[in-house]
Amino acid sequence: MSTVIGEEELARRVGRLSVEQKVRLLTGADFWTLYDEPDAGLRAMVLSDGPAGVRGQSWDERDSSANVPSATCLAATWDPGRTEAIGALLAREARRKGVDVLLAPTVNLHRTPYGGRGFECFSEDPLLTAQIGAAYVRGLQRHGVGACVKHFVGNDSETQRMTIDVRIDERTLHEVYLAPFEAICREAGAWAVMAAYNGVDGSTMTESPLLREILHRQWGYDGLVMSDWTAARSTEATAEAALDLAMPGPASLFGPWGDLLAEAVRTGKVDEALIDDKVLRLIRLASRVGALAGDPGAPPAPAAAAGPSGRDAPDSLEVAEELRAAAAAGFVLAHNDGILPLSRSVPMQVGLTRPVRVAVIGPNAEVARTMGGGSATVFPPYTVSPLEGLRAAGLNVTHAPGVYPHARVPAARAPWLLRPDRSGTGAEVRFFAGSGELIGSELRDGAAFLWRGGFGGAEVTEPVARLEIRCAIRATVPGTYRLGVSGLGRYRLLVDGAELFDTTLTLAEGADFGDALLHPPQALAPVQLAGGQSVTAVFEHDLSSSPLAGFFTFVQVNLEPPHGTDEVEIAAAAALAASSDVAVVVVGTTAEVESEGFDRTSLALPGRQDELVRQVAAANPRTVVVVNSGAPVLLPWARDVPAVLLSWFGGQELGNALAEVLLGEAEPGGRLPMTWPATEDGLPSPRPVDGVLAYTEGLFIGYRGYDRDGREPLFPFGHGTGYTTWSYDSITVDCDVPGDRGPGGVSVCVGVRNTGPRRGREVVQVYASRPGSAVERPAKWLAGFAGVDADPGETVTVGILIPERAFQHWTGQAWATEPGTFTLSAGPSSASLPLTAELERP
Ligand code: BGC
Repeated sequence: MSTVIGEEELARRVGRLSVEQKVRLLTGADFWTLYDEPDAGLRAMVLSDGPAGVRGQSWDERDSSANVPSATCLAATWDPGRTEAIGALLAREARRKGVDVLLAPTVNLHRTPYGGRGFECFSEDPLLTAQIGAAYVRGLQRHGVGACVKHFVGNDSETQRMTIDVRIDERTLHEVYLAPFEAICREAGAWAVMAAYNGVDGSTMTESPLLREILHRQWGYDGLVMSDWTAARSTEATAEAALDLAMPGPASLFGPWGDLLAEAVRTGKVDEALIDDKVLRLIRLASRVGALAGDPGAPPAPAAAAGPSGRDAPDSLEVAEELRAAAAAGFVLAHNDGILPLSRSVPMQVGLTRPVRVAVIGPNAEVARTMGGGSATVFPPYTVSPLEGLRAAGLNVTHAPGVYPHARVPAARAPWLLRPDRSGTGAEVRFFAGSGELIGSELRDGAAFLWRGGFGGAEVTEPVARLEIRCAIRATVPGTYRLGVSGLGRYRLLVDGAELFDTTLTLAEGADFGDALLHPPQALAPVQLAGGQSVTAVFEHDLSSSPLAGFFTFVQVNLEPPHGTDEVEIAAAAALAASSDVAVVVVGTTAEVESEGFDRTSLALPGRQDELVRQVAAANPRTVVVVNSGAPVLLPWARDVPAVLLSWFGGQELGNALAEVLLGEAEPGGRLPMTWPATEDGLPSPRPVDGVLAYTEGLFIGYRGYDRDGREPLFPFGHGTGYTTWSYDSITVDCDVPGDRGPGGVSVCVGVRNTGPRRGREVVQVYASRPGSAVERPAKWLAGFAGVDADPGETVTVGILIPERAFQHWTGQAWATEPGTFTLSAGPSSASLPLTAELERP
């Protein structure tokens, strides 16, 4: 989209501002908002995370947001059209919440499945990431909301993410890690880019020459580059690099710019022309999102709509339907011996049937993970667990949790957590002044609280010195409940007036401010309760006892209800399965395993979930396993059960989508956007050595590495089956395909036939290869793809456009195409390519 106000006028407005006015604009006003500047006709813009929804400016469950499926689930749709529609839905959410720029999508690559934020990134493949990411951006920006594509570049793991220096060779950098950013900046025209925390080849990304060299010079990028939160750590070096905006603000608390930068300009250490360019980019962004008035001095009102309304509310039927369809379209049926789809009834004698009895088993059946943890967190208006979804579909369902997979005690929740007056799930928070006077309170619906820059809404005007979280814990069964708190500083817990602890929680050595939010220390105490008994718990906290008091306060009330030993729970689950017609085991990860801020240390399912699956499958051979993880986990039993369905972090409608897919009312449309490893052997490490993380595998990311090493994955890249079957009949190069193939691009037409019993969707994938190449290359790489729907018996020809870039390599200075013969292979996955054709390049 071009700017609404012409370039000359934008430049004139920059020229009107003093150095102080300009520099002020280049650091956030607070965590999420930027400054306004009436002299330029600029209102304050608002930024928000991203990418699982639009959280808005608060971190508060009462301010809910539509929770869309994880990036991995969207990528698994291989459907840019559907992803663009999700982008448009997010744009409506952004407008509803008064947000101008969404800090999304995350287009770092799945260099290794250990990457803690894998769920937030699309794929291991640059082309798939580029196409899905570009669609997400188009969906947002077509509706006037800016995308901020992140994290530029090499932020593909979390270990020491603030300080590591990532070493990527030139060719790999261009062909693999920059490729999605390039497509999204150039083709989808993302209005903003976020510079990562890490360094690449010796420079931290907010000071990196790559910002100017790649973004400005090579790609002609005219958008804005903002820092990741607190990633700008120097004044002059960041100003000279093409960093435009230091986040968050204000500069007096966080930024290295502010007065220091103004002084550097005044003393000639930083050229004012650099500042002008940054401000120009900022007001160009403002113009694009509608934050710039036609006339200076009259900024338009923020575009926020007031509160949830009608069809765009995050809990509306329309939103639910779209999120449910997107989740189902991304679910990957990795293995099915014919047990799926399930039938609603089982035959009895003499032509009669009875409803099928389904044992729904597993820790994630009752509390599904609909999103991963960290800054991507949003507060959905509701979530549908697999258990609820299957029940709502009218199935005769029983449940057993099977095992308890948590190492840390999770957030307290219903049915145990109640407000102190027992009126519903949640807690009351009371705020006290230094004098001890009660100055405000609020009723909350959850157990996690984050305050930044103010407590308890507008009525709390005095500084808060102490807070109390008051709630009730009601026992469902008799036993020992472990009750406690996560946070930093001094906490006292009183249960029915008796003190259970008075302790000070501190961060481990070497932890950074993100750790205080992402995995803060816990204090716990056992509470013995009779069945039905309820007690009142009060957590007291002195704000000054936390080292982060001036920045933010994060507190979570934690509760672990009594549970049997894993042996007892597994035996109960197996017995339930044995007495049912079919068992659906929902296994998955926990918040301790997949989150921003740390990488995974193991790819195994946490706790004894593997044993649970084996014992349930032994008790009832009709066992379907649903995997609720954002990224690959090891499934050592996958070949021994009749069906494995990967549901990712499926968003708020996860359980309903699951019911539709298991019953065959919706097609499991997904194909793997990354390789699922059979073992942990041979995977790239996310562990830096002496602060350096070397991408020693070079170009051989994901399936390219498997091909090179001759390793067998559990499930290959691109794999997934639906409820019908396909034959691949023909391939033609240079055929008639509508659309722009660009200079040097080619078209490929693939004929496929639905050979199965029902209508279905197939993702036709085309890979390029170059036997006998003079340059080192992967055995094959994805060159294009397209989804197609067809009825039983129907033959369709799928047209796929392949840009010239698919045949090019980076020489160190430029892109080049090696003349000669390339092979194009088409099929349903990277491991099954029945059709090939040759292509001559001059
Ligand atoms: C994350 C970003 C996020 C930012 C603001 C950072 O820690 O890396 O992805 O947008 O915080 O929440």
